[in-house]
Amino acid sequence: MKKYLWAAGLFLFVIAAAIAAMVIPNPLGAKVLAEAKYRGYLPYTTDEAVTIAYSRCSTCHSADKMLRYCARCGPPFIVVSHSMKKYVELMNQKGANTRPFSDAEIVAITQVWNGLVGNWETGWGAKNIKKLLQDDTALIRLLDTPLEGRPIELALKNKSAPGAHKE
Ligand code: HEC
Repeated sequence: MKKYLWAAGLFLFVIAAAIAAMVIPNPLGAKVLAEAKYRGYLPYTTDEAVTIAYSRCSTCHSADKMLRYCARCGPPFIVVSHSMKKYVELMNQKGANTRPFSDAEIVAITQVWNGLVGNWETGWGAKNIKKLLQDDTALIRLLDTPLEGRPIELALKNKSAPGAHKE
């Protein structure tokens, strides 16, 4: 009985600590959470995904690049995301200091632009897209996931970003 109470106490403490980390606006808690999401331990909410999509994708060019992008312009966002991730890696090899896109981030960000600007993956065919994605297993997994399994894209499906001409 005593052992059981101890375990119950520990359990409650862990839950309370987790809740505290989430609701108390302390910078350390926020940082720990952001890092957990970057690493894919916790999912990004739709709002957070939109925020990181704008902030992480408009460091080199304006958000207009995404908002004006279209099915006539080139391959779907899933391919663009992959190229931008690779581009950051390349620039870092050449001495730049940009935080690499994590798998969790790039998967969330791709869903945001798909949802807000457009998704023309079907027009390109999975086989062709996979060739362009090379060894990017996280994005290949996303490609194989139907809309119902893409919570962020699903939530943004009927929205459109200011300035975008949604496809
Ligand atoms: C490290 C810098 C950098 C980051 C970060 C970056 N881009 Fe780019 N992006 C470029 C460069 C360089 C080009 C090509 C030159 C140009 O058109 O300005 C480009 C071009 C584009 C284009 C136009 C492609 C075309 O064919 O017309 C789109 C769309 C785009 N980026 C989307 C994104 C998205 C989405 C993200 C975030 C996942 C992102 N970019 C992050 C550097 C970056």
